[in-house]
Amino acid sequence: PYGSVKLDREAADAFKKLASDAKDEGYTIVGISGYRSYHTQVTLYQRYVSKDGKQLADTYSARAGHSEHQTGLAIDVASNNPNILTFEQSRSFAWMLEHAHEYGFILRYPEGKEHITGYKYEPWHYRFVGLDIASELKKSGMTFDEYAAVYILD
Ligand code: DAL
Ligand code: ZN
Repeated sequence: PYGSVKLDREAADAFKKLASDAKDEGYTIVGISGYRSYHTQVTLYQRYVSKDGKQLADTYSARAGHSEHQTGLAIDVASNNPNILTFEQSRSFAWMLEHAHEYGFILRYPEGKEHITGYKYEPWHYRFVGLDIASELKKSGMTFDEYAAVYILD
């Protein structure tokens, strides 16, 4: 009932819990895209380049081998309407903003942080980072890129 996408096991369990709790509170959250193979991303990115050109495509689509969908830790979600582009207008989006971190997920490409994340605002794209980091990022307002730069990468 929460979408037929593949995710890393831990992320999948957390997402099922998230979607089920949301449903109990009257909010629909469905996975639209989860794990994507390198090959799928090649096809997807090429399609966007054909449509919008490389420069624009690079603002919203990762090149193959660089999408976090390939890690199985990222998920694009929608509400009753399966169009992810209108997710921001749904009540479910407000629920996600408030609760996603309680399940270890973060809004990965926030509004106004394009210069840090390298991508346009994506209200539908969440990344599983585990409870501790998700709560830390929620509290601090840090992007995952900043967190990684300070605490993970050397
Ligand atoms: N839309 C995100 C950036 C991706 O392609 O992974
Ligand atoms: Zn995504």
